[in-house]
Amino acid sequence: MTNQSADLDWTPEGVPVSRRFDDPYYSNENGLAESRYVFLAGNDLPARFHGGFHIGELGFGTGLNLLAAWQAWQEAGIGGALLYTSFERYPMKRADMARAISRFAELDGLARALFAAWAPGSGEASLPGLRFRLIEGDARQTVPQWSGCADAWFLDGFAPARNPQLWEPALLAEVARHTAPDGTFSTYSAAGHVRAALSRAGFQVERRPGFGRKRHMSVGRMAP
Ligand SMILES: C[S@@+](CC[C@H](N)C(=O)[O-])C[C@H]1O[C@@H](n2cnc3c(N)ncnc32)[C@H](O)[C@@H]1O
Repeated sequence: MTNQSADLDWTPEGVPVSRRFDDPYYSNENGLAESRYVFLAGNDLPARFHGGFHIGELGFGTGLNLLAAWQAWQEAGIGGALLYTSFERYPMKRADMARAISRFAELDGLARALFAAWAPGSGEASLPGLRFRLIEGDARQTVPQWSGCADAWFLDGFAPARNPQLWEPALLAEVARHTAPDGTFSTYSAAGHVRAALSRAGFQVERRPGFGRKRHMSVGRMAP
């Protein structure tokens, strides 16, 4: 299937909004704090980081989650490289990613390094402490074909009601199939059908308080 690129509007605060899905890429309030809360803390990171740790992500978007994880990895001083594989159907242009990330001054150095070494279409990048791969295409097709296995998944599609493709039970079953024993997922969503599908796929699913004004989010661990 041919990829199309992201179609964007911008809020006055500088947050990109997808016209296709009518949803912002990250919280208008503090996207970086939300990323750390939902995806890092939600997967018990950085505490679980170890050599060769592999993060999988549905929905690369602006690269904010990647940069937050890479920064946490560097600060944890694990050594070696964090492996990060993200799946994206509608890649943003590099200039738009850089603009979206420019709101977060503390990520400036890492963002510059990433966007100097990598652009959509170039696939992989090796940087100090990071081996990153973006797999372009519809995740419903690309995840089943992936030969890798993640220790932690960041499930970050747009809202399930607007972007149901990225929350289909068959795709979530593939996420589970590509999860290491004792691996985990987290998502900002607490939608009942998403939690039920993840549970059927083999995760022990737990509801936690959400970030900011969101009441709940979901996390889970592969059942032994
Ligand atoms: C909320 S945004 C992700 C935000 C991102 N994690 C970040 O750090 O900026 C959701 C992403 O899912 C992507 N997406 C939507 N449907 C998809 C599909 N079927 N396969 C792969 N990616 C998809 C969108 O293009 C968008 O980039």
